[in-house]
Amino acid sequence: QAGLLYFGAATDTPGQRERAPYPQSYAQYDAILKSPDEFGQTTPTNGMKWLFTEPQPGLFNFTEGDYVADLAGTTRKLLRCHALVWHNQLAPWVDAANTTWTKATLSAAITRHIRAVAGYYRGRCYAWDVVNEALDEDGTYRKSLFYNVLGEEYIKLAFRVAAEVDPGAALYYNDYGIERPASVKTAGAKRLVKMLKDAGIRVDGIGMQAHLHADVHPSEADLVATGEAYSELVREVAYTELDVRIEMPVNETNLAWQTDAYQAVVGACIKVKKCVGITLWDFYDPFSWVPDVFAGQGAASLWFADFTKHPAYDGMVQTFKKL
Ligand code: G3I
Repeated sequence: QAGLLYFGAATDTPGQRERAPYPQSYAQYDAILKSPDEFGQTTPTNGMKWLFTEPQPGLFNFTEGDYVADLAGTTRKLLRCHALVWHNQLAPWVDAANTTWTKATLSAAITRHIRAVAGYYRGRCYAWDVVNEALDEDGTYRKSLFYNVLGEEYIKLAFRVAAEVDPGAALYYNDYGIERPASVKTAGAKRLVKMLKDAGIRVDGIGMQAHLHADVHPSEADLVATGEAYSELVREVAYTELDVRIEMPVNETNLAWQTDAYQAVVGACIKVKKCVGITLWDFYDPFSWVPDVFAGQGAASLWFADFTKHPAYDGMVQTFKKL
């Protein structure tokens, strides 16, 4: 049984974080990111995605991914690698309107991509998010470019190639909205993983992104139920992109339920034996993806812009102390 291995934070490459006050805040940010007292694991929020790693067909660039991989190396943090096959942040040559794919050409492109990227990072990734967000909100397959051309075969192919290229990495299916036991998307995630296992394909983990908010912040008991259900299928589970967004402005009430939500995740990961870890999807509010996507929402991370901590920080520490 795995047991809790790490608590970490994802981070972006400095050049991608232009919205924040620069470079004044950077030294403080970096000190927290690198501190072994705060985080024992990291993930690149963007740098290993297709857009950056294979900007032109067959031409690979690891500059962005290396920034975080090297940081993990020098600060001795576990590295979770993210993500090999995702419908979003693809290089334009993959999903341009005028690109035509056949089953054969797209299978070859996926294979080449995974061989090159997972091959380059072989031995350094504790885990890989092999396929990311293959499900729609109703739990059926997302009608992505990959699905439209290859059906579920693309999922099998991605896991097969990843297993062959990096036998030591834990291979994950990763998605959002799959944290609650009774949701149709959770059922979809179980179906997807069973489908792989029935085909004799190795899948080691289920990553619950856990982008939580006022309407979706499951109780610890619900999170435990989901984690236990996934544990019947895979060797390990993890919370891979945790944040809890708030309808701005912050006040005592929303910071209190945010604290509850963060604590529930820590409590659940402690209780679910196969839960190996928790990754924050960045830890500093000005670097969070949330305000770009959800107008009027924010303060999803653990550090405010002025580097004071959200109450959720101490809340989580208290929950960890019960370990
Ligand atoms: O590349 C440009 C850069 O040149 C420019 O300087 C910079 C500043 O505006 O923008 C850069 O592009 C942005 C990119 O992040 C890198 O920062 C894109 O506009 C922006 O859309 C992109 O957002 C990322 C998002 O995935 C894309 O869907 C977020 O940072 C990243 O945190 C987010 O992460 C995803 C996970 O991979 C999967 N799960 C959901 C999660 C949140 O959406």
